[in-house]
Amino acid sequence: MKQKEDKIILKGDIVFTPTKEKFEIHKDSYIVAENGKVVGIFKELEEKYQHYVIKDFSNKIIIPGFIDLHLHAPQYPNRGLGLDKELLPWLETYTFPEEKKYEDIQYGKKVYTKLIRELWRVGTTRCVIFSSIHKESTKLLFDLFIKSGLGAYIGKVNMDRNSPDYITEDTKKSIVDTEEIVIEYKDKSDLVKPIIAPRFAPVCTVELLESLGYLASKYNLPVESHLSENIGELAWVKELYPEFANYASVYNQYGLFGQTKTVMGHCIYNTEEEIELMAKNGVYAAHCPHSNFDLSSGIMPVRKFLDKGVPLGLGTDMAGGHCISMADVMVAAIQSSKMKWLETNKELQPITISEAFFLGTKGGGSFFGKVGSFEEGYELDALIIDDSSLADIEPLSLEERIQKFIYIGDDRNIVERYIRGRKVEEPEF
Ligand code: GUN
Ligand code: FE
Repeated sequence: MKQKEDKIILKGDIVFTPTKEKFEIHKDSYIVAENGKVVGIFKELEEKYQHYVIKDFSNKIIIPGFIDLHLHAPQYPNRGLGLDKELLPWLETYTFPEEKKYEDIQYGKKVYTKLIRELWRVGTTRCVIFSSIHKESTKLLFDLFIKSGLGAYIGKVNMDRNSPDYITEDTKKSIVDTEEIVIEYKDKSDLVKPIIAPRFAPVCTVELLESLGYLASKYNLPVESHLSENIGELAWVKELYPEFANYASVYNQYGLFGQTKTVMGHCIYNTEEEIELMAKNGVYAAHCPHSNFDLSSGIMPVRKFLDKGVPLGLGTDMAGGHCISMADVMVAAIQSSKMKWLETNKELQPITISEAFFLGTKGGGSFFGKVGSFEEGYELDALIIDDSSLADIEPLSLEERIQKFIYIGDDRNIVERYIRGRKVEEPEF
């Protein structure tokens, strides 16, 4: 019988994390979804579902799609370049010169088509993206994402001071261009939406921050930026904003800190007051461990954020991080937390594998709504994992199989991707 458009059943070994404490595992079971949302998971199919077409992935693992809460699309060609530097020199020598190139949308098209294919390949089903300052290339990025079937928030970067001339915007133009993009794309797609993206406080004037906060509130738009990533950056913010109690207060003052849904990259050096403000305002932290190693930024105290109830997800921060796979970021998050554990005299406990998996799926997914889990009512974003190439001599439990995939698997093990219950094919442009 022909599959009904809005109904799908996936059969296989189902693994997800409704809570961070442990994996929920349903061996050889069925996920039923209608209108893109999970109806339930069943060991046996009830009569009413019998006539649905079933996608049979027996012996394969079905997990939620990966969520990247922080990456820079125009930095894709820079993966692996200049990572013997720290943040601020790296921005000056590698990042800004690369981002300038996106004034040419033909260059943007070449890079962005490759980037989107790569995200599809590694199983990132939704992501929160910074583009560059350029309006036309940013619109192109929206159009390509919409075509691909992947989900994203995309932010045109805003920066109007303290950067090289070739990448510093006129304040008024920055605001007008941002609003134009917002109006054009806010209702164009259910899966690809605009987000407000002040690069970070030191390269934005107060006038710009104020206007961006106004736009976020006027259109009820989410916000993304960077916070407390690097010691030099902290000193710079202190010098530029001496009247503020701390870095977070700058964003908070201008309506860019949880007044609408907000995600801040890095959050390595926040004070207790700042972490409390994040918890109170529901501001997400995007933990980007690869980037934090690559740019010698520091080790985020993830456990502290979890204990304080700050919403948390993971990000590649590509190209500050060299790696685009969220499974690799989960591993780095565990490794990083283990170093923090040693560094704090074993006070801040390392995160477990189920916690890392939670952060890279449901934790980050909650920024998009009911995403990143297979509980009833969640959007069915799923990856089908064929881990037969990872099998050793002795059979493993499902929980061990998922550990192996996260640590030593890669995109070759991902055989299909689903978003909102629909299979997403490799993007062709
Ligand atoms: N802070 C401001 N801009 C950037 C950027 O492009 N990457 C990283 N990692 N940090 C930033
Ligand atoms: Fe970043």
